[in-house]
Amino acid sequence: MRGARARLAVLVSGRGTNLQAILDATRAPEYPAEVVVVVSDRPGAYALERARQAGVPAYVVPWRRDPADFGRRLAEVLDAHQAQWVCLAGFLRILPPEFVQRYRGRILNIHPSLLPAFGGRGMYGERVHQAVLASGAVESGCTVHFVTEDVDAGPVVAQARVPVLPDDTVETLAARVAEQEHRLYPEAIRRVVTGQVRFDDLVAAEQLAR
Ligand code: GRF
Repeated sequence: MRGARARLAVLVSGRGTNLQAILDATRAPEYPAEVVVVVSDRPGAYALERARQAGVPAYVVPWRRDPADFGRRLAEVLDAHQAQWVCLAGFLRILPPEFVQRYRGRILNIHPSLLPAFGGRGMYGERVHQAVLASGAVESGCTVHFVTEDVDAGPVVAQARVPVLPDDTVETLAARVAEQEHRLYPEAIRRVVTGQVRFDDLVAAEQLAR
């Protein structure tokens, strides 16, 4: 008998193309995870529509002035759906430390650059690609990493590289990176939920390297 699939919550704020890639991957019966709930901090996020179309419960939890409040409300929704893992997919808020600690080693994020380059507070969306182009880098890509209290600095699960071409614009570079994101995120989730990549091992390896 096949084991139970890992239960994923996906947090979104926008168009949700990475959510779509995850939902598409979960359609394969052998994929080891399923999306049990989608939560957006923004009512207008198109990602909510994608969840509904896939028959996945979707909620709006509006951002609160006190981030800890938001974290508590979010955790209630996740608990109600027995979510085991939290995948950030274009979620634009910084999760409060209490929430990050509660789900320590069970939160993933995807970022549109080769971290640690072009990451950190304020580095999101088009700004990342603008900064890559302005730097003259010949390569960019995307990173799936575990979320810790330090923004974009948690242990790296997987990366994919793309070339930066001489005539690239923010749009052409973003599209090239997005194509890789949609391949990389479902694969990184697979590695983590099957225990092939473990948060504690990555933390230990980072400590040794210091
Ligand atoms: C992606 O580029 C992702 O790396 C970043 O936000 C964007 C989300 O896009 N964190 P989408 O909402 O998944 O289409």
